[in-house]
Amino acid sequence: MIKIRPHQKKDIPYRVKWLNNSNVNKFIGDELGQKTNLRKEKEWFANYQKTKNKKFFTICDDSKLIGFVGLSNISKQNKNTDLFIAIGEDEYRGKGIGKIAMKWIIDYGFNKLKLHKINLGVVKNNIAAVNLYKSLGFIIEGDMKDEVFSDDKFYDFLSMAIFNKKT
Ligand SMILES: CC(C)(COP(=O)(O)OP(=O)(O)OC[C@H]1O[C@@H](n2cnc3c(N)ncnc32)[C@H](O)[C@@H]1OP(=O)(O)O)[C@@H](O)C(=O)NCCC(=O)NCCS
Repeated sequence: MIKIRPHQKKDIPYRVKWLNNSNVNKFIGDELGQKTNLRKEKEWFANYQKTKNKKFFTICDDSKLIGFVGLSNISKQNKNTDLFIAIGEDEYRGKGIGKIAMKWIIDYGFNKLKLHKINLGVVKNNIAAVNLYKSLGFIIEGDMKDEVFSDDKFYDFLSMAIFNKKT
């Protein structure tokens, strides 16, 4: 059974594993393909604990940790946020778990945090992610040419958003 719970200190080694997985980091992060290590992620966690505008959650299949989902740059003033998600364990992708986690975090953002708009950025050739976001009602607000560079190539980048119809 899929469970989503707050990200904990003991999850740090899994973050390192997932963010170093090339199937994940080719699509995620400020600079695609970037590697991380335990020291950097411990530092990241210490900073995360001090911030109020980020919410990170770990996605679990019963007791097995499989990925993360969350919201950053949560703005109470603008009632918006940026969403991110990764299924870090290769064998758990394409099984409907990303969709479950996305629905959960959208509900959290709209109904618990009372936000109006959830934004996300996605590399245009990340077909699985783009299809997933469209299937949930995200619309394309921006289509940026040659926005990211990785593996000797430039890639287009989409800015997508979903709106809370109740606010
Ligand atoms: C993107 C990601 C979160 C999707 O999660 P997932 O659990 O693999 O996706 P799901 O099985 O829930 O699929 C949900 C929908 O996504 C789309 N999808 C998923 N895999 C797909 C694929 N290989 N090709 C095309 N569409 C795909 C489909 O629309 C699917 O809906 P459907 O099954 O009703 O047709 C996951 O693949 C992932 O973590 N990728 C690596 C990191 C990443 O890209 N993160 C997002 C950065 S913006």
